Amino acid sequence: MGVTAMLMLPLLLLAISGLLFIYQEVSRLWSKSAVQNKVVVITDAISGLGKECARVFHKGGARLVLCGRNWERLESLRDALTSAADPSKTFTPKLVLLDLSDISCVQDVAKEVLDCYGCVDILINNASMKMKGPAHKITLEFDKKIMDANYFGPITLTKVLLPNMISRRTGQIVLVNNIQGKIGIPFRTAYAASKHAVLGFFDCLRAEVEEYDVVVSTVSPTFIQSHHGQPSQRKWENSIWKFFFRKLTYGLHPAQVAEEVMSTVRRKKQEVFIANPIPKMAIYIRTFFPEFFFAVVACGVKEKLSVPEEG
Ligand SMILES: NC(=O)c1ccc[n+]([C@@H]2O[C@H](COP(=O)([O-])OP(=O)(O)OC[C@H]3O[C@@H](n4cnc5c(N)ncnc54)[C@H](OP(=O)(O)O)[C@@H]3O)[C@@H](O)[C@H]2O)c1
Repeated sequence: MGVTAMLMLPLLLLAISGLLFIYQEVSRLWSKSAVQNKVVVITDAISGLGKECARVFHKGGARLVLCGRNWERLESLRDALTSAADPSKTFTPKLVLLDLSDISCVQDVAKEVLDCYGCVDILINNASMKMKGPAHKITLEFDKKIMDANYFGPITLTKVLLPNMISRRTGQIVLVNNIQGKIGIPFRTAYAASKHAVLGFFDCLRAEVEEYDVVVSTVSPTFIQSHHGQPSQRKWENSIWKFFFRKLTYGLHPAQVAEEVMSTVRRKKQEVFIANPIPKMAIYIRTFFPEFFFAVVACGVKEKLSVPEEG
């Protein structure tokens, strides 16, 4: 009995690894066929997540349109992508300068892409502007700037591309949002407001365009690791609990989120939250026990105010 069990264990492990390998290969091929030859527009392809999305979709054989505000960074991204991939199986990305706060620029870019490719199959609205600070210290001009970049920019781009998708009866629009589109966090007033607004727009649009086979997906992460501030590696981080805590603090790597965006496209998912159980639970608490949620959030603010500011 004991010997049989000892023999079974390696066989079982081998079988599990085999199944995992097959699963990974099948999903890789599936991802590839989902975006192969598809015209995919990514806004702000040069920041952390945008860059990783560009890499994943380029590898999958998409005809990429990479948008960003900095031409040199767009060029170096294109060079990095083309040098890393097999040129017989991938397309050289088209580069476009795009400032989402400039509505006429957004309209021109959308028309330029349609003139060039004749259609857009997948639009990934990824760009967004951040802000942090107490509401009374943020100017109204800055609030408007945030709304332009995070709300009016993506909806303008979508509105110009949408008639083409509707007439072709195909297309997918992905909004990379934030969990702050569902719950309000102190000192993020304009950012959270813009994320609530844009989520509201795309939730309404989803139902409107369903009959034309146009899919609207929203992907809402909590934290994504910033390429500016990577956590330093220390010995104590070998501990599984510290690692888990570090993940909570610093968030997911952009490559993991980009894979989730690809999976959202492939499976035509409607709404995805990339969050640990605690932020996910916060959404339910906000819905069903709002007073409790407000009290907890307010406590956090009081604690923060009682800590003397650095510098
Ligand atoms: N980072 C997170 O923890 C986190 C969490 C949840 C959701 N998200 C969402 O994930 C997406 C990507 O975030 P990220 O963290 O990868 O980006 P990021 O590192 O915060 O960088 C922001 C990027 O947006 C660009 N941008 C700002 N305003 C713009 C405008 N008006 N037009 C065009 N581009 C503009 C910036 O360009 P410049 O360099 O030229 O300023 C910069 O490349 C965003 O939608 C964000 O809301 C992020």
